[in-house]
Amino acid sequence: MTPYVADPVYLNGRFLPLAEAGISPLDRGFLYGDGVYEVIPVYSRRAFRLDEHLQRLQATLGGILMANPLPIEEWKSVVHKLIETAPWDDQSIYLQVTRGADDKRDHAFPPASVPPTAFAFASPLITTPAEVRAKGVAAITVPDLRWSRCDLKVVSLLANVLARQQAVDQGCAEALLIRDGYLKEGAASNIFIVKDGMLLAPPKTHLMLPGITYDVILELAEQHKQPLVVREINEMELRTADEVWMTSSTKEILAITTLDGNPVGTGKPGPYAEKMWQWYQDFKNTVMRKG
Ligand code: PDD
Repeated sequence: MTPYVADPVYLNGRFLPLAEAGISPLDRGFLYGDGVYEVIPVYSRRAFRLDEHLQRLQATLGGILMANPLPIEEWKSVVHKLIETAPWDDQSIYLQVTRGADDKRDHAFPPASVPPTAFAFASPLITTPAEVRAKGVAAITVPDLRWSRCDLKVVSLLANVLARQQAVDQGCAEALLIRDGYLKEGAASNIFIVKDGMLLAPPKTHLMLPGITYDVILELAEQHKQPLVVREINEMELRTADEVWMTSSTKEILAITTLDGNPVGTGKPGPYAEKMWQWYQDFKNTVMRKG
């Protein structure tokens, strides 16, 4: 076992050690990035919003015209078995499905006789250290060079990879993607802004991933009767926001405190980010750990 991947992993109907899990180099995930994935956080050995993650997997498979290789109930039992056998209480479960490996290279879909590849594994959930959270993180903006179906959680992530690397090269945690003058999301996160006490969230369109954490944030804002607007956010609004947050299954809610080298608001995590983070923890701790 590597320190980051628990044994056994799941591959095409079998549970086996990672070292024995092999796929063909002709796999279309490898050749074309022709596949889909999910990342599901697990708290106290309970998968967070598993139904929603599996629904998004289904929607993405539909979007790339692939049948789901497993019924939802079977995915659930794969996920539960991985959770049970992994050594950590808090985990991150990765699922990936590709269009399988034909015996030749052809862009068009392989014949129906070629089975898909289904792979899944458990990792420890790496949370943000308290001292990083207390300071917030730095981000840059970059042009969004992705295709026009960013609502699909596909493994063809090259544009996201290049954007994120630009951030890392500049000592930053995330790259915020700007398309036609509007903020869409981060390279691997959704982005929210706060202006004059109002929470603003970009709408779910084909140009943004419908984040599971994004939905939780909107639900918590409504529950706590916070002013909230879902609408497009232009670059100027982003740059003059009082607070900017990134959200994802693994990052939860993380304040962005500098953007392109300039302070966001006061340059410290804002009060709303702190409140939302606490609501999120309370929700997790009641619904997940004790529920
Ligand atoms: N990324 N937008 C993009 C482009 C993402 O890659 C992610 C998550 C999100 C947030 O979605 P969710 O709240 O469902 O995690 C938004 C995962 C964690 C990843 O690729 O590892």
